[in-house]
Amino acid sequence: MESKVWHIQSNQLDSATTVHAIEEVSEALRAGEVIGMPTETVYGLAADATNDAAIDKVFKAKGRPSDNPLIIHIHDTQQLDLFVTQIPDKAGALMEAFWPGPISFVLPLKHGVLSERATVGLDTVAVRMPSHPVARAILQTVDIPIAAPSANTSGTPSPTEASHVQADLTNKVFGIIESDASEVGLESTVLDCTTFPYRILRPGSITKTQIEAVLNEVIQTETNDSDTPASPGMKYKHYAPRQRVHVVENWVAIDVPPDVGVIAPESMRQYINEDVLFVRLCESETDYDEAGRNLYRVLREMDQMDVEAIYIHGFNQQDQSAALNNRIYRAAGKTIIEG
Ligand code: TXA
Ligand code: MG
Repeated sequence: MESKVWHIQSNQLDSATTVHAIEEVSEALRAGEVIGMPTETVYGLAADATNDAAIDKVFKAKGRPSDNPLIIHIHDTQQLDLFVTQIPDKAGALMEAFWPGPISFVLPLKHGVLSERATVGLDTVAVRMPSHPVARAILQTVDIPIAAPSANTSGTPSPTEASHVQADLTNKVFGIIESDASEVGLESTVLDCTTFPYRILRPGSITKTQIEAVLNEVIQTETNDSDTPASPGMKYKHYAPRQRVHVVENWVAIDVPPDVGVIAPESMRQYINEDVLFVRLCESETDYDEAGRNLYRVLREMDQMDVEAIYIHGFNQQDQSAALNNRIYRAAGKTIIEG
């Protein structure tokens, strides 16, 4: 199958070509095809969440374990009535505060509408309303719940540019939308709203403190150390490039071997030998947003380089760095060089 390609930029949604492209994409989704689509977090692999055959294609294209549920994407909270038994009050307040945007809520599933292959037989469902203008236009036009995992091969870093989707999935999916690079660069926060207190299953750019400020109460964070994580996806080794990745928490104290590639803030370059391959992640040690936006692209770039191992900067643990550090430490499989 040769993948179709559409070019749809966020700032050209009104052009006739774009309107036509969005119609074509929506038609294909209704017909059960799967399509790589931009969102503000990472590119997603979109499919009709009510169609078993379409969902099967998603799992197959990604090589995704069949017990890992998909996030369902909507454009209007009214769509929730179709497949959620009830929206807890406090979850409603969070939707008002953060949707459309980079947070997914795990809610009680109403069986019968969504493909059970997408929800993998659970009694809950994760839902997100993305803010990316192209994603929104597609979700509005197609007007059915759309399942969309990250549009990468399972186990590779999530795609933040159309070229990453091409690299992993070209000719394995019906089509790919080429659009701008993802603004956030890390996957959405996943918040379980089916147990009290609410629990962050996957940290994202909407932080624990932001959520607590809306709720006026303290929430929990999944530690990921148990064998049966609440978010099935977290048990798989993720975000990992080919080479061994080590996190470095103190550059001043270590000597980087010459066959290693370094990923770090520009401000750390002064501590690293000039003959070592250095890839800039962001400007300073507190530029968490910039680092989050660049992380997966840089991991992919490093993966192409001829280095034996990767040393990557571990950021200070802060509310705003939780998502970034989570992905960095997971890419490393917890190998830490403390220096
Ligand atoms: O930002 C995002 O969320 C992106 C874009 C495309 O929207 N999507 C994404 O999907 O990251 P995916 O499939 O790569 O990650 C979904 C995560 C997995 O860790 C999965 O286990 C978890 O959400 N998840 C899905 N449904 C769940 C449920 N009912 N309960 C707990 N965790 C769930
Ligand atoms: Mg993923």
